[in-house]
Amino acid sequence: MAQQCDIGLIGLAVMGQNLVLNMADHGFAVAAYNRTTSRVDDFIIGPAKGKTVLGCRRLEDLVQTLKKPRIAMLMVKAGDPVKQTVEQLAPLLEPGDIIIDGGNSHFLDTEEQIRKLQDLGILYLGAGISGGEEGARYGPSIMPGGTEEAWPLVRPIFQAIAAKVGPNNDIPCCEWVGPGGAGHYVKIVHNGIEYGDMQLICEAYSLLKDGLGLNNDTLYDVFAEWNRGELDSYLIEITRDIFSVKDEKTGNALVDMILDRAGQKGTGKWTSQHALDLGVPTTLITEAVFARSLSALKKKRVRASRMLSGPQGTIAEFRLTANKDEFIEQVRKALFASKICSYAQGFFQLQAAAAEYGWGLDYGEIAMLWRGGCIIRATFLEDIKAAYDRNSELENLLLDKYFKEAVTANQSAWRRVICTATEIGIPIPAMGAALNYYDSYRSERLPHNLLQAQRDYFGSHRYERVDEEGNFHTDWVGKRRKPG
Ligand code: 6PG
Repeated sequence: MAQQCDIGLIGLAVMGQNLVLNMADHGFAVAAYNRTTSRVDDFIIGPAKGKTVLGCRRLEDLVQTLKKPRIAMLMVKAGDPVKQTVEQLAPLLEPGDIIIDGGNSHFLDTEEQIRKLQDLGILYLGAGISGGEEGARYGPSIMPGGTEEAWPLVRPIFQAIAAKVGPNNDIPCCEWVGPGGAGHYVKIVHNGIEYGDMQLICEAYSLLKDGLGLNNDTLYDVFAEWNRGELDSYLIEITRDIFSVKDEKTGNALVDMILDRAGQKGTGKWTSQHALDLGVPTTLITEAVFARSLSALKKKRVRASRMLSGPQGTIAEFRLTANKDEFIEQVRKALFASKICSYAQGFFQLQAAAAEYGWGLDYGEIAMLWRGGCIIRATFLEDIKAAYDRNSELENLLLDKYFKEAVTANQSAWRRVICTATEIGIPIPAMGAALNYYDSYRSERLPHNLLQAQRDYFGSHRYERVDEEGNFHTDWVGKRRKPG
């Protein structure tokens, strides 16, 4: 059995198992290990039966079955489990062997692992993988980064198992992203964008359900229609499907029986945290993270709902618009314009991080990595690719001709929807953040001259002038009009 497997996979939770099966289906021999060994046994006599998968009950066994240079891939929980597994695995390997972390790890952890393993000559890749269980089984989007030397050895496996797009369905959604933690960083931003997309869809849902009073059958039709146009995407498609599923217990629509309290594992939060570190305005994604946090305050919200006043009721009750179809179309346009701002912010953050860490990212290529397999896959990503093909140095997606025109075309509907939501009291934090970002970004002058004056007044922080280079301080107290 020695040295016969192409790759070893450590961690047989659903994602790990499905990746093993996907690799085996593509002709690779895979060694599979899990810390709880009963899971290895169950896997081998269950889903992996008859496939080119070898179950290993010890890490040492897994290492011995691998062809050299060995490729060992971790699909274990991010954080300490990854660190501990690497600590156990590294002494069993030789210089030139490769460890891949395929989990949702923080990019700084990946950078640290690369540094640590460098002295041992072990090559380390941090590969973001998106697409959930189904993607892992039949074609995920893979975002590999790290020690570039390892890439030619890993590429044949990853590109074979990745989702494919393009007219001939032969372009893999997997390409080299960059050095260090670049792969995991791109996955973090992917997840931030995922948070933004999901929040925007929820806001559109709320406007249509609570604002317009649409039922689930009509919502199904609306999302089905949206999925045939500019918004065509996996998340719109699954949202459509969700409206059609009944609860077995009550017979009601299942979505209506689900508690409005969102969970989060942290990758969206990492996008926002790092946006703050970089000083880039990733406002929509951050609102989406906070919207989940606010939703989680369910009991407090229930109490507050009985104590705090504000408008409440449908659009018809407020007599704001007479035409239902017109409003649905306005919401679609508001969603699309907001989505453009969200991606503009996400790519802007990627650009800032690439500059900070010297990654040299290819943004058009990243858009194509997300074109298939992953959670945010959407037709719209081709327009992003086209924008970066037109100008690889594009400062902000909003400045590209296509997106500039798209926002212009949807802008009045977008503003109308936000006014309506505000008037009838429907929270739309992400759509609002998007429009405020747009209006701020297109402002030649913002009110921060006043803010600079305030900072200088109370803290002598100095300010710049509009008519002269340099830093200035004023004795504001001495010069002010005396009160009274
Ligand atoms: C993906 C998903 C996947 C997962 C995240 C998000 O790309 O396949 O992003 O990584 O759904 O864990 O989970 P939370 O919503 O819990 O943060």
